[in-house]
Parts: sequence; structure tokens; C-alpha cells
Amino acid sequence: MKVLRRSSKAAIWSEAYRRSALSIGFVPTLGGLHEGHLSLVRQARLECDRVAVSIYLNPSQFNSDEDLESYPCDLDADIESCRAEGVDLVLLGQQEDFFPENFQSWVLVEDLARELCGAGRPGHFRGVCTVVTQLFHVIRPHRAYFGLKDFQQAKIVKKLTEELLFDVEICLMPTIRSQDGLALSSRNDRLTETQRAAAPALHEVLIEAGNLISSGETSAKAVKEFLLSRLAGVAGCELEYVEVLSAATLGEFPGQVLNTSGEGVLVALAIIFEEVRLIDNIQVQDAGVSDQVESGSEGGS
Ligand code: PAJ
Repeated sequence: MKVLRRSSKAAIWSEAYRRSALSIGFVPTLGGLHEGHLSLVRQARLECDRVAVSIYLNPSQFNSDEDLESYPCDLDADIESCRAEGVDLVLLGQQEDFFPENFQSWVLVEDLARELCGAGRPGHFRGVCTVVTQLFHVIRPHRAYFGLKDFQQAKIVKKLTEELLFDVEICLMPTIRSQDGLALSSRNDRLTETQRAAAPALHEVLIEAGNLISSGETSAKAVKEFLLSRLAGVAGCELEYVEVLSAATLGEFPGQVLNTSGEGVLVALAIIFEEVRLIDNIQVQDAGVSDQVESGSEGGS
């Protein structure tokens, strides 16, 4: 496994495999790798000849210095996890390669980035879209893997690659959860014991809302009110948003919830336990709640 720091070196690595007609799978990350990240790596390993992982704590997508500074980071452990999964290349992103002084060329996706996490974190998706574009130019993957835990991010990246004519297939993977339902996140380690004990309620509440929709509730407003009342009972958490939207467009429903076909309904929330911000979502389709539960260990950071 190669561990490279400069994007120019990673581009040479990638070019060699593209010339030999070998497929490259790519998993971009911020580091703090856990089973959620590793599920993407494993899928890439299954489907591609070579697998690249980037670890770059991209400052341009963080709104608060505190969130950036307290983001868990154990580079040695991350590199070891990649080695154990049979990764071929780890790119350790450097600020001077991606956001040198006087950087001005931002990539934006407009409407999809306005609501949900875009509303409370101005500039966040601009930072994500720009770094993903840069990373795609460096690695030039045939397939890139993203988690549905960050549903809005996945949608935005898909849109970006379609509209800017990237030659890459975006593969979306289910949310990996701990046994009690909490979606794995690098931020979970920052929860206190009490907060960690309360956090699985988020997933429970989402599932209850999903069941409400599946059993015939047609008003998004009613589902939202149900969520708000249930979340008010979760100790110590402050609500950032709760939304019931069209999973296809991330827009409101013109008519009733679930008279839709295809991607169905997205029920999504963001909450804050003191300084720790957690997001989660479920998708509800005609066939019922696809809650994206997979059993994952708590492991990793
Ligand atoms: P990061 O939060 O490190 O996540 C990297 C990838 O892992 C994302 O596609 C994310 O959706 C996926 N992921 C995280 N937790 C997951 C879980 N519990 N189950 C399944 N997948 C999970 O997302 C980012 O980094 C950054 O914004 C990035 C795309 C790297 C751009 O900087």
C-alpha cells in the first residue's frame, strides 16, 4: 500500500493504472475511520481493481474552528485500517495542494445545497463540492463511494458529477449503525456517557415516523409535528432541523407524502448534544421504511 502526501504523486499513481485499463475505486474521507467508512472501502475492493482512499480534514467545509479542531484524528490507526482492508493508495491531503493561499475557484451546487445541512452550515457544501471535484481530478476514479448517512451530500455529489460531466460512477452505500441503531460517526466519540445513552433515540424516532408514513399518514406537516414532539423528549439535545421531503428532489411534496413512486420520502434530522452535531435520516418508499440498518460495531474512532 502506498501512502502519498502530494496530489501530483497520486495523479501519477492513478494514471499508470488507467493506462493499464485497470479500474480505480475511490473513497474520500475526512479521517477518523470507522466501520461506516470501511464498508465503502470493502465495496470498492469488491468492485474495482485498485482502491484509493483520501484522508483530508478539509477546513473549507467546517463552519466552526472548534468543530474542526476537535474532529477525531488518528492518522496511524487510519492508515492501519486501510492496510487491513487491502487499500492500494492512501492520499493524505495537504492544504497547499487543495486550498493554497488566495484560493478563489469554488464549485457550487445551488438548490440541493440550500436546505437541511446547507441552511445551518453556510459554505459547507461549497467546501465539499470543491474538494470532491479536486480529488476526482487527482484520482480520476472510475467509481467513487459515498454513504447515504450523508444523504444530502450524496445527492449533491451525484448532481455535480452529472452536470459537470465527470466520467465517474457514484455508488451510494447504506448507513452503518451500531447495534443500538445509532449511525456510526467520527463525532460519536465526543458524546458523554449520558449523551451516548440518549443518542439511539434519534434512530428510533425516525423509524417511528417512517412507520407512520407507511401506515398511511399523508401529511408531511403531521409527520414533522410528530417528530418534533418525540424529539422534545430526548434529554440534552437541541434540534437543528427535522425535515420530511421528497427523497428525489429534497424539495417539499406538491401533494401528499407517499403518493410518490421511486425514491419516496426522506425523513432527516440534525441535532446538537452540546457541541456535538449528529445527523441521521431514513428513506420511506412504497415498500416501507428502508432504514439502512446494518449491524456495525462501535469500533474505530
Ligand atoms: P466523512 O465524514 O469522513 O465521510 C466519508 C464517507 O463515509 C462519506 O461518503 C460518508 O457518507 C460515509 N460515511 C460516514 N459515516 C457512515 C456510516 N455510518 N455509514 C455509511 N457511510 C458512512 O463525508 C465526508 O467525509 C466529506 O464531506 C468528504 C466527502 C470526504 C469531502 O471532504
